[in-house]
Amino acid sequence: ATKETKVWEINPQENLIEDPSIQEAAHYLQLGKTVAFPTETVYGLGADATNQEAVSHIFKAKGRPSDNPLIVHIGSRDVLKKYVRHIPTKAEQLIDAFWPGPLTIIMPSNETLAENVTAGLDTIGMRMPDHSHALALLKACERPIAAPSANRSGKPSPTTAEHVYHDLNGRIDGLVDGGRTGVGVESTVIDCSHCTPIILRPGGVTRQDLESVIGPVDVAPSVVKKDESPRSPGMKYQHYAPDTPIWIVQGGAGRMRQLAQEATNNGQKVQFLVSQERADELKAKDALILGSRYNLAELTSQLYDALRQVDKKDVDLVLAEGFPKKGIGEALMNRLERAASDYK
Ligand code: TXA
Ligand code: MG
Repeated sequence: ATKETKVWEINPQENLIEDPSIQEAAHYLQLGKTVAFPTETVYGLGADATNQEAVSHIFKAKGRPSDNPLIVHIGSRDVLKKYVRHIPTKAEQLIDAFWPGPLTIIMPSNETLAENVTAGLDTIGMRMPDHSHALALLKACERPIAAPSANRSGKPSPTTAEHVYHDLNGRIDGLVDGGRTGVGVESTVIDCSHCTPIILRPGGVTRQDLESVIGPVDVAPSVVKKDESPRSPGMKYQHYAPDTPIWIVQGGAGRMRQLAQEATNNGQKVQFLVSQERADELKAKDALILGSRYNLAELTSQLYDALRQVDKKDVDLVLAEGFPKKGIGEALMNRLERAASDYK
């Protein structure tokens, strides 16, 4: 069903929680409506996690399979114990170190929230976002908010309100516009419901960050290898893939130039997805530029916007630069690999 999507443009300010737009958005959530909002990672599509009917609208709006559980956002850590059976020691340490922040922690659920939030699992993913608008909204509505990324399933996660509007206008009730998000890829997901914590999805909090606080962690096979059977239900779905094939090119500018030449000779139109430095080396004027090769955080924050632009361009092949899988580079390359069809 189509409906009007109400958009609130809200600038950062003191006492955001008293802003009439935040108050209205919070009221929407209390009424069981769906509201998209910015976080420090990507925009989320929120609904009251205690309201099964409200949560079902998230799945409908996104076209998301109902066996893929949602993560729950809270505005203060004090309320966490209402929703989990217990807080594992290592989870507690991670919360102290990284909340609010881009870290989702899977814990044993006490099954008090709406059943469809966890898709029948006995665990639940919780996160406290580090974003003024998100925190104000969560505090104002006084409810835990289930929120996956606010994109149509199969599209890159949204890093601007325009991305959300493009995908979901008419399918959701409200949208809080807080400008561009910071990290630009989704939160790190770590499962702390087992003895050794395991990273299910790399993100803004890096493996090194995590290990400096709780010691060794495992990494799910699905993160390391693309086609391994996934432990995080969401990882089994093809994500972030534009219609145009993307090849990740490991060599330097010479290798890239050679592949581009071959494709051009075959009558294909080629687009580069590269750092500023590589674009300069290639003298490519209309390349999609992610940022400086020496600033992995900047490259990461621009990736999803660039992937959305790929599909708007009339090209047959994208040649993307490979970056080091160090620090945030691990999340960057994880998302790029999911969007790509080949390594060259
Ligand atoms: O940064 C983020 O995490 C964004 C913002 C909006 O907070 N949210 C987000 O949600 O990316 P979503 O639903 O797109 O991704 C959550 C991931 C999915 O891959 C899901 O399968 C996994 O977490 N997940 C959720 N609950 C889980 C559980 N109990 N066990 C294992 N994986 C779970
Ligand atoms: Mg998502």
